[in-house]
Amino acid sequence: MSQTSPASKNITSVSQETRVFEPNGEFSTAAHISSLTQYRRLYNESIRDPEKFWAKQAEQELIWFKPWKKVLQWKVPDAKWFVGGKLNVSHNCLDRHLSTPLANKAAIIWEGEPASPGKPGEERVLTFKQLHREVCLFANVLKRNGARKGDRVLIYLPMVPEAAVAMLACARIGAVHSVVFGGFSAQSVADRIADCGAKLVITADGGFRRGATIQLKKNVDDALVLKDASGKRLAESIERVIVLRRASNDIHIEEGRDVWWHRELEYVDANCPAAHMDSEDPLFILYTSGSTGKPKGIFHTTAGFLLGAKLTSRLVFDLKPDDLYWCTADVGWVTGHSYVVYGPLANGATSLMYEGAPNFPEPDRFWRIVEKYGVTILYTAPTAIRAFMKWGVEWPKKHNLTSLRLLGTVGEPINPEAWMWYHEVIGGGRCPIVDTWWQTETGVIMITPLPGATPTKPGSATLPFFGVVPEVVDDQGKPVPTNSGGKLVIRKPWPSMLRGVWGDPQRFREVYWSEIKGSYFTGDGCRRDKDGYFWIVGRIDDVLNVAGHRIGTAEIESALVSNPNVAEAAVVGRPDELKGQALVAFVTLKTGVKAHPQLREELRQHVAKEIGPVAKPDDIRFAESLPKTRSGKIMRRLLKQIAAGDEIKGDTTTLEDFGVLARLTQGEE
Ligand code: WTA
Repeated sequence: MSQTSPASKNITSVSQETRVFEPNGEFSTAAHISSLTQYRRLYNESIRDPEKFWAKQAEQELIWFKPWKKVLQWKVPDAKWFVGGKLNVSHNCLDRHLSTPLANKAAIIWEGEPASPGKPGEERVLTFKQLHREVCLFANVLKRNGARKGDRVLIYLPMVPEAAVAMLACARIGAVHSVVFGGFSAQSVADRIADCGAKLVITADGGFRRGATIQLKKNVDDALVLKDASGKRLAESIERVIVLRRASNDIHIEEGRDVWWHRELEYVDANCPAAHMDSEDPLFILYTSGSTGKPKGIFHTTAGFLLGAKLTSRLVFDLKPDDLYWCTADVGWVTGHSYVVYGPLANGATSLMYEGAPNFPEPDRFWRIVEKYGVTILYTAPTAIRAFMKWGVEWPKKHNLTSLRLLGTVGEPINPEAWMWYHEVIGGGRCPIVDTWWQTETGVIMITPLPGATPTKPGSATLPFFGVVPEVVDDQGKPVPTNSGGKLVIRKPWPSMLRGVWGDPQRFREVYWSEIKGSYFTGDGCRRDKDGYFWIVGRIDDVLNVAGHRIGTAEIESALVSNPNVAEAAVVGRPDELKGQALVAFVTLKTGVKAHPQLREELRQHVAKEIGPVAKPDDIRFAESLPKTRSGKIMRRLLKQIAAGDEIKGDTTTLEDFGVLARLTQGEE
């Protein structure tokens, strides 16, 4: 197996990690799952008879308009869960709480980014009742603007409560939402619209980021006129753009196409019954990078996704009625779907949303928020933790963090050093850490400690959640011995699994189901220790994990070669102390074009324009040609070593031009 561990420099000590942290304090007595024995008993039940287990959960957890007839219909790779059942996700997140004491409990507490240094952030609180009203009103706005059951709606908003309102309103009427992260470009917006055939876009005039205004509406305007190679408008399916006023920046309003969110509200009432959706009706599409081509539209359906999001939220975060839960992810990523919006709200938990950056205006922004609201559960990414470590303990030390009782991480492997820092400095040594492994495709958390049951080891995501059957295998699909590296696969279907790649069943089969026959291939490398604990190494395909965000090298390469100066490009990751992986692009220029520092910046900006600032290479290295095998394949392994500054290891006799290698290692331009 190729070893392409992100942050391998940081986590080399992982294989020697021997510390174990037993569940303690309140968790070993009062957690929902409060012993390893209880976990093992339930896990075994969930594996022995998955249909029985999931039927019971679905009955207990969800409100159904009509019961299902069959729990699972499975023929690799197509799963149908709770066949024939009818329900509605927004009904399960909102209406169900209105006749309970939760009606006037805060559903969303929102903290805005400070408009300028020194100014406090704005605050908003929406109770379940208020959120329900907002969702019903906006669902009627969607209908008024032509959205119907099954239509796709693109959401391109900042982290404001309206992002959750828009998602829930789509779910209410059965429209399929696709949220696009505000850090993606006009081109990315246009590509996604073209792929899913969206009818509406919901956006804002602008969003705030570190004191600057992000021109969201301008990006949408640009996206709507972009054309493909044949001259066809990419976003021709769009009929309406609904614009939220957020930043009050100047924008263009196209009569007949664009409408203001607040004006539309004047025409609707708050009566909007929840549509009766089939268990298998699509709930959302979320685009994510793969190792080839454009991002894939991963889609999830109604019942299975909601059940997974609800159950994992409650058991992994041990949600209790008085918790104040904060997941710092943006709604543009899957974590924001499952663990800012759907999971917590379905449980009647209070979900905190923060609009801005962790270090604006100062590096104690998060800790200020924890103290101000008394956050009890904090779920964030290792990359953020490493940044906090770098900024220094004086920032968290300024604040009282004793309200915290549980910490979580997601998005990339966490190095033991960061784990210990999080545990000691933020958790005061008392809070368990749940290192949760999962993916856009899995919908919800798959491998994770349960805080009252699982002894944790820094750097390990530990054991599978109920109903999940992961295994580490070799290229033939055979389990590898204890402590050997291999490919992480999932052997059995699970309710919240992806149902496909939107509009491309072929790609769905190829990417996920053809690598290891009969199993779902995760794309991750992994090792399992003597206690059966999973240690995720990172991606083993050409997908990079930069600051917890998935980015395909192929996408960046195709963006680079679309620049008229570029002949060829290869992008690889190199270990980065903060971001896990940093992006290094090797670029050959067209004949006659001279390499110079401004061109480097121009190419970085070009990638930002094509994909978004998230994909900007950290480093661009010009080369006369790229090292290739005789069959013409770029030798990525070699480029990775060069990028990491390692000595060249392994067999290079297949190199076509040894001179190329020599020049690359010398960093010659
Ligand atoms: C990585 C984010 C190690 C992994 C929810 C996976 C992790 C990819 C962990 C999915 C973890 C996520 N430990 N690696 N706890 N969590 N990953 O789709 O490589 O944005 O395949 O979903 O992130 O990224 P995605």
